[in-house]
Amino acid sequence: MLRYMSAKNLKKWRGQIGLLRVDLNIEPSQEESAYRLKAILPAIKLLLKNKNKIVILSHRGRPKWKDSKYSLSPLAKILEKRLGQKIKFLPFGNNFRGLRRDIDLSKNKIFLLENLRFWPGEAKNSPVFAKKLAILGDFYVNEAFAASHRKNASISVLPRFLPHYAGLSLASEMKNLDLAMRKYKHPLTLIIGGAKAIDKLGVIKYFLNKADRVLLGGGPANTFFKALGLDIRNSLFDPDAIPPIKKYLHNQKIILPSDFRANKDKILDIGPRTTVEFISLVKKSKTIIWNGPVGLFEKKGFERGSYQLAKAVARNRGFTLVGGGETTTIILKLGLENKIKFVSTGGGAMLDYLSGKKLPGIEILKR
Ligand code: 3PG
Repeated sequence: MLRYMSAKNLKKWRGQIGLLRVDLNIEPSQEESAYRLKAILPAIKLLLKNKNKIVILSHRGRPKWKDSKYSLSPLAKILEKRLGQKIKFLPFGNNFRGLRRDIDLSKNKIFLLENLRFWPGEAKNSPVFAKKLAILGDFYVNEAFAASHRKNASISVLPRFLPHYAGLSLASEMKNLDLAMRKYKHPLTLIIGGAKAIDKLGVIKYFLNKADRVLLGGGPANTFFKALGLDIRNSLFDPDAIPPIKKYLHNQKIILPSDFRANKDKILDIGPRTTVEFISLVKKSKTIIWNGPVGLFEKKGFERGSYQLAKAVARNRGFTLVGGGETTTIILKLGLENKIKFVSTGGGAMLDYLSGKKLPGIEILKR
C-alpha cells in the first residue's frame, strides 16, 4: 500500500531528518527548470512546517563519476532564493556517517547533497550505496516523479531501508495521469511529436484502442511516412521504429500531416492546412494528451505549428494533459501553464507511465 506524504502522516517524524529525493536534472537557464523547481517547493515547505531537517537528493545529467560540470551546487543557490532559506551544500565524499553527524549538529534545516550520479553506485542501483544514503535520514520521500522510471539506487532501492512516502507532486502526477488513462471522456485525442518515434510507441500502443484519434507530427510522423515508402529526403526519422510501426500504418485513427513547412530538404514543421485540421480536432476533444512538439520549434519560422496547437489545447475546456521537456517549454514560453489542466514534470517517466508500465520508483513505495 502506498503511503502518501501529508501533515498527518508526517507527525510522527516531527523534528527528524527527511530524505527528499527530487529531480533537479535541469539547466537553470531553461524555462522547464522553473517548473520542476516549483513542483518540489510545497513538499519542502510541509517538511519545514513539521520541524524536519531536510536532506535533498537528486541526480543531474549523466556523469559516470565526479564531474564538476554536473555539480548540483548552483542549484543550492537557486533553491535558497526560492525558499528564502539557507541551504547547506554537502559535497562529494564517502564518509556518510561523518556527514550524518554534521547534519545532526548543524543549525541548518535544509541540506543538498552533491549529484548522486557522482557515486557510481547510484546508476548501478547498488544496495550498498542505497544503505549509505539511508544513514543520512530517518525517513524517505519520493518527490521525483520524473526520475521514477529509473532503476537507480536512490529511487528504487533506498526506500527498502527507510520508512517511505510518496511526495505531494508525485501523488498529483499519479492522480492526473491515472485520470487520463482511465477516466477520460470521448473524444480523446492523443498528440505525439518530438524526435524519437521509438520512445513514443508504448503510449501510442496503449491509447490506440481508447483514443478517438492520434495526431502525429515531428519525428514520429516522418517515421510513419518513411515506413509507408514516401520520400522524406533528409528529414529526421527513427529507423529503429520502422519495424514495430508497420502494424499501425493503415490504422484509421492515426492522422498524419497533409502538408509541411520545410527547410531545404528537411520537413521541420506541420503546414498551415494540417495546423487548421489538428486545431479543429483539438477543439472537438474532451480529453487531450500531448507529448512532443510537432516541429523544430527552436528554429524561427518552424514554431508555428506547435505554438498554434499549444494555444488550441489551452483553449480546450476538457481534461488537458501535457508533458515532456520540450512540450512543457512551449507551454511555459507562451505562458499557458495555468490554462492546461495538468503539466507533467516527467519526460521518459510520463511516457512509461502512460504506456501502462510499472515505474520502479513507485512500485518500491508500495512495499
Ligand atoms: C529526466 O530528466 O527525464 C529524468 O531526470 C531522468 O534523467 P535520465 O534520463 O538521465 O535518467
